Amino acid sequence: MSLRQKTLELKRRMQDAVQGGGSQAIEKQKSMGKMTARERILALVDAKSFHEYDLFVEHAGKDFDMDKKYLPGDGVVTGTGTISGYPVAIYAQDFTVVGGSLGYMHAKKITKIMDHALKMKIPLIGINDSGGARIQEGVNSLAGYGEIFYRNTQASGLIPQLSVILGPCAGGAVYSPALTDFVFVVDKISKMFITGPEVIKTVLGEEISMEALGGARVQCEVSGNAHFFAESESECFDQIKNLISFIPWNNDKKADTFPKKPPKTKLYKIEDIVPDDAKQPYDVREVIKAIFDDSEFLEVQELFAANIVVGFARLSGESVGIVANQPMVMAGVLDVDSSDKAGRFIRFCDAFNIPLVTFVDLPGYLPGVDQEHAGVIRHGAKVLYAYSEATVPKTTVILRKAYGGGYIAMCSSHLRADFVFAWPTAEIAVMGPEGAANIIFRNEILNAENPDEMRKLKIKEYKKKFANPYVAAAYGYIDAVIEPADTRHHLMHALEISRHKSVRRSNKKHGVPPF
Ligand code: HXC
Repeated sequence: MSLRQKTLELKRRMQDAVQGGGSQAIEKQKSMGKMTARERILALVDAKSFHEYDLFVEHAGKDFDMDKKYLPGDGVVTGTGTISGYPVAIYAQDFTVVGGSLGYMHAKKITKIMDHALKMKIPLIGINDSGGARIQEGVNSLAGYGEIFYRNTQASGLIPQLSVILGPCAGGAVYSPALTDFVFVVDKISKMFITGPEVIKTVLGEEISMEALGGARVQCEVSGNAHFFAESESECFDQIKNLISFIPWNNDKKADTFPKKPPKTKLYKIEDIVPDDAKQPYDVREVIKAIFDDSEFLEVQELFAANIVVGFARLSGESVGIVANQPMVMAGVLDVDSSDKAGRFIRFCDAFNIPLVTFVDLPGYLPGVDQEHAGVIRHGAKVLYAYSEATVPKTTVILRKAYGGGYIAMCSSHLRADFVFAWPTAEIAVMGPEGAANIIFRNEILNAENPDEMRKLKIKEYKKKFANPYVAAAYGYIDAVIEPADTRHHLMHALEISRHKSVRRSNKKHGVPPF
């Protein structure tokens, strides 16, 4: 055969391979509002940047007549490309080929691209659309998942790992995402569960739809398994592109810097956001938008544990990770879920050289039997551990309440914040004035002629003494009491000064965090 003939043969083979599961299966995929695996990759990466590998890999199934079947690319597309010039390794499972199920060679393709990502030190994006372990390939499918989980764990903290759930994902197809840094889901398209409705019905006799069991909303609002919720696949890809712009390629690098932009202070007036009455709620995201570049804030896990807000913004063009109590939801208390959310986000930022800025306004940890029995001690400790261990620049701004364990946990100087600023409205105390007065002045209140009057008097006395930033300032626990309008200026300086921060860690193998 001549070179021309061989090239034509190559083209024919390529055309066959990219057919996936064939026109009928593709039709079914599209009827559900889903793109095909290749369309998804092309929608995500820069035009003409995608290079596919292992297109001609064939499956290794022998049993149940599988050896008679041709499964193009063994149901997964792998390759490398760029997103806004930023290199990524990527795989997308093809549901049109035996439900994107994971057989031995399918897994080999994924682990190969994962190895490339680790060697090249570039982020890994996995687009999951799979019924899990390919049942016909038995233990070889399980082995494949084991190899993926192992690599997810080895890659953790070295390269960012993003998982996109774009179909009904069962079993191993959700455990790999659970080991990665960020999980993206799309309304009505994404479903995640370890065992589906059929198994639940058989084992427990309970009936539940796929959507109610593990739909996108459930995974974002209830379980907290997913971090970003989108209405469509294209919105989801825009979210990924935005996130990628805030994070570095790997743990040796810093995130790219962008031109510095002032916040939109006409829209977000910092002095008008926090109410004078310490009991009045407000939206801490308004404070964030009043301070950071272009008032841009990419919130992570927006729908889960909304009593804490975490996400990325830029200060002088540099990426920062923000953790803020949200007084608008449950007064911003720390509880099981918000501790989990904050702890994990802090660790991501620390692993990837993203400085942390913490905004504090909370009455403490949430009391209650439910919380105690759900392990608020164990989960709450995650925040203490994550902040204490983090060595990236850490700056804290106390806006209003910083009571009890909440004061310590929210990146206090005791957990080695580099700079702690307090607004004049800050109240740093063991607990709120009402609770405190009731305890320490109990006898005086009980024995008073007018207990109510006495209680009011004692609350006032306590407020005067402790409901301010100056007692903490007198001990040097905060570095400066600042005017709210100057917050951006102080944060920019803190970031500048901390640029070359270096902390030597002890050479233990690793700690034992409370996870
Ligand atoms: C082999 C599979 C498959 C699987 C789907 N298919 N899942 N083939 N192994 N795991 C095939 C179907 O037989 C079908 O083939 C095609 O993919 C499309 O699937 P449908 O069922 O028609 O699609 P849909 O109705 O949308 O349902 C999707 C689904 C369902 C919810 C994912 O297919 C399902 O429940 N699959 C099994 C899920 C599961 O239990 N997986 C094993 C998990 S255990 P045809 O030829 O008819 O088109 C696991 C172990 C690792 O993953 C655990 C590690 C911790």
